[in-house]
Amino acid sequence: MNSISITPGSSLKGELVVPGDKSISHRSIMLGAIANGVTTVRGFLRGEDNMATMAAFRAMGVRIDDDGHLLSIHGRGLHGLEEPGDVLDCGNSGTSMRLLTGLLAGQSFFSVLSGDQYLRKRPMKRVVEPLSRMGARILGRAGGNLAPLAISGGTLNAIGYESPVSSAQIKSAIMLAGLYADGDTSVREPSLSRDHSERMFALFGASLETFHNGVTVKGGVELHAQEIHVPGDISSAAFFIVAALITPDSELLIRNVGVNPTRTGIIDVLRSMGGSIELVNEREVSAEPVADILVRSSRLKGVRIEGQTVPRAIDEFPAICVAAACAEGTTSVRDARELRVKETDRISAMAVNLRTLGVTVDECDEGMDITGVERLGGGVAESFGDHRIAMSLSVAGLVSADAVRVNDIDCVSTSFPNFFSLLERFRTGAP
Ligand code: S3P
Repeated sequence: MNSISITPGSSLKGELVVPGDKSISHRSIMLGAIANGVTTVRGFLRGEDNMATMAAFRAMGVRIDDDGHLLSIHGRGLHGLEEPGDVLDCGNSGTSMRLLTGLLAGQSFFSVLSGDQYLRKRPMKRVVEPLSRMGARILGRAGGNLAPLAISGGTLNAIGYESPVSSAQIKSAIMLAGLYADGDTSVREPSLSRDHSERMFALFGASLETFHNGVTVKGGVELHAQEIHVPGDISSAAFFIVAALITPDSELLIRNVGVNPTRTGIIDVLRSMGGSIELVNEREVSAEPVADILVRSSRLKGVRIEGQTVPRAIDEFPAICVAAACAEGTTSVRDARELRVKETDRISAMAVNLRTLGVTVDECDEGMDITGVERLGGGVAESFGDHRIAMSLSVAGLVSADAVRVNDIDCVSTSFPNFFSLLERFRTGAP
């Protein structure tokens, strides 16, 4: 179990690029694998989560060439996947497991999905239940709620599903199953979660229609290979955005970041806290909005975060909590119960760690109140095996009075393998 000790360094100045978007990378493999023709992917994130998705499709007979820059996915068409000879290991990746469950429900073969100790504790009923309504046969521990999941795929019925939670993983699992259903499958959610699936389905030639907080997919329509350019992941950029805001005298330009409006809650929240964040060179690439993000250190103040902003910033709360800890006044987070079922319970994980650093945090079931301090203290922080907790606490170490030691940091390689080398480069002001 590796750990790292972070001490304050120089101001953060210069330019950087962050690795490719994790959500878009997963979807490019999945749709590429079931399309006709060879899909190429540039900017693919070679983190452990996406490598788990890649390994799963290779195990189902899909040829995927990787020269280190370009991925070439030799699509096998809608019905060309082969039965895997062994359990498909999703590692720590909830996206791999939930989206694959949807896709595998429509295959005419048997498959089993499992993952690491953290993923095997995360709720799967949220996809198993609607997929079962479509006629899928899926068994799992705890009445089908926990992996390993055993899927006996086959013909599916189209359904109209009202999801109780705003979740792109639920929506995408049903959309993937919908490609194999006998008609039009619809999903509606309380507020719009990330819409990368909708955008990429359309790019690959699926027949789909979006409506208010929902989407309809027509079954049986073949997909066509595409050339995908994956932008940088705003969820990874978030750590450097917060780092530059809270470290005095900083100015960072983060190039080529995905700024899909369903993902930019972090920018809205930090701007409302007083953060200086500009989007420059805005453009569209592979049906996704992209920009360069210019951040300057700023005095932050506490705000209230709730409602529709929450799903638009769902993965960025650990980073937002660090910004809140450095802000004047109290930041209140509400409507965020989903944070309790992420890679770890992110409400209690951030509360425990920020208290260690001398911050007052009050937890409630669906959120927390964080009262900022003049100067964070040092101490020992725990990642709880969650990459985003580890990276957030490392950013806190940039401005703490004493060193912050972060334990159990190997998890960072699930989404941002070069995070610590980039952080060190900017912390020390090295060119
Ligand atoms: C993801 C959706 C989100 C997010 C996860 C990636 C995706 O989960 O937390 O990291 O790629 O669809 P939910 O949609 O379940 O909130």
